[in-house]
Amino acid sequence: MERFNALIKKDGSGRLTIIEIPFNAKEVFRKSRGAIYVSGTINSIEYRSKLLSRGSGKFVMVLDKAMQKSIGFDGQDMTVNITMSSEDLEAVAGEPDKIADVTCGLDVLTAIKTRQSIRKFTAKPVSGDMVSAILYAGMCAPTAKNKRPYHFIVIRDRCVLSMLAQQNSNAAMLEFSAGAIIVCGDKSREGIKEFLYADCAAAAQNILLCIHGLGLGGVWCGVVPNSDWRKLLIGQLALPNKLEPISVIAFGWPDEEKELCPRWETAKVHYDKW
Ligand SMILES: Cc1cc2nc3c(=O)[nH]c(=O)nc-3n(C[C@H](O)[C@H](O)[C@H](O)COP(=O)(O)O)c2cc1C
Repeated sequence: MERFNALIKKDGSGRLTIIEIPFNAKEVFRKSRGAIYVSGTINSIEYRSKLLSRGSGKFVMVLDKAMQKSIGFDGQDMTVNITMSSEDLEAVAGEPDKIADVTCGLDVLTAIKTRQSIRKFTAKPVSGDMVSAILYAGMCAPTAKNKRPYHFIVIRDRCVLSMLAQQNSNAAMLEFSAGAIIVCGDKSREGIKEFLYADCAAAAQNILLCIHGLGLGGVWCGVVPNSDWRKLLIGQLALPNKLEPISVIAFGWPDEEKELCPRWETAKVHYDKW
């Protein structure tokens, strides 16, 4: 984490209120490309922001009106004390050690072609390392502008799994799954709803493929907007307003074998135009 004093001031155009970052954020936060998201405190008030590049390793942080008000900025240059961490760097630093040890023998095309929804599970538990590897697969999915607006809530508690199963017949398999991963979208990080859902769907599919690749089974349970189940999830998981539960993925060791059905549909393919 970086600590420094800096000036809050108007930029050259007079339109933006900015803080000039007194170091090369790209180097310090080891971010060779893409946006740098930072969080920390300004005079002990929490913030989260994206740094704007001004070229040649110089970066600024723009303060919105709400933040200016919280800090008491009245338009006159003001020195503040700042703590700043890169969210991406923290994510990498916190990576569980054993993820690298978890591998699977399936090539990607075979995994894609043989994955099927599994809704029956044995009682065998799934190791924490496997769950970490599955979450990591979710975090490797593409996201619009690399905003990575997802959060994953892992549920292992049998009482919670059972309660969720009983309140939604389409998710009855949670009663016997080893666990569930709730993929939630952060609306404050991705304001375009379609992108938020697309990003979380990509993460969910990576998660399902990883589950399958590890020899486990899983199924995606949809969360219907405005449904009682969605409300139940929000309450049970104590989700803040900014988080939308988007999918619930039940997983465990499979207790069913399914025949692969053909999936190629020529009528769905179009070349150059409809
Ligand atoms: C958005 C979405 C919502 C889904 N919701 C449920 C669900 O609530 N319960 C369930 O058993 N399966 C659910 N599924 C799984 C589908 O039923 C399944 O993917 C589909 O039947 C194709 O079968 P396959 O996954 O074996 O290829 C959902 C899948 C998606 C993508």
